[in-house]
Amino acid sequence: MESILFVCLGNICRSPAAEAAVRQRAPELALDSAGTGAWHVGKPPYEPMQDAARARGLDLSDLRARQFTADDFGRFDAIIAMDRQNAEDIEALRPDGAEAPVVLFADYIGEGDAPVPDPYYTRDFEGCLDMIEACAEGLVAGLRRP
Ligand code: 4NP
Repeated sequence: MESILFVCLGNICRSPAAEAAVRQRAPELALDSAGTGAWHVGKPPYEPMQDAARARGLDLSDLRARQFTADDFGRFDAIIAMDRQNAEDIEALRPDGAEAPVVLFADYIGEGDAPVPDPYYTRDFEGCLDMIEACAEGLVAGLRRP
């Protein structure tokens, strides 16, 4: 797995943070993020998330939101969704024959169905980043395992 797309709803909180947390741990991977919604296309990540991430050494300032498209199935080895609704919205766009798996991020900490809670609504940026960093660790450890 060399290229991974992280997907949430707005692409301004969870998926940009996930992208940066995995990049910090595995800079050799080709990573991107996108949102299933289009509200924030072209915008940088949400300032409170940028601030919380920066305090952990994660710089989100160069990232810009874009919307997930069906073409993304052909551009990435795997698509990682932050919650089940994201995964359903992604799957609804799957082209015939597209093989890239859609996985929930919490799978990498053995929590299967658990959502990465959306801090845009919960306002719990620290809890969200704790979970994202744990999932990022699990993902990268899995890739490095022989
Ligand atoms: P995200 O959070 O999916 O983690 O980027 C959201 C940010 C904004 C909105 C929804 C979710 N919104 O509806 O504006």
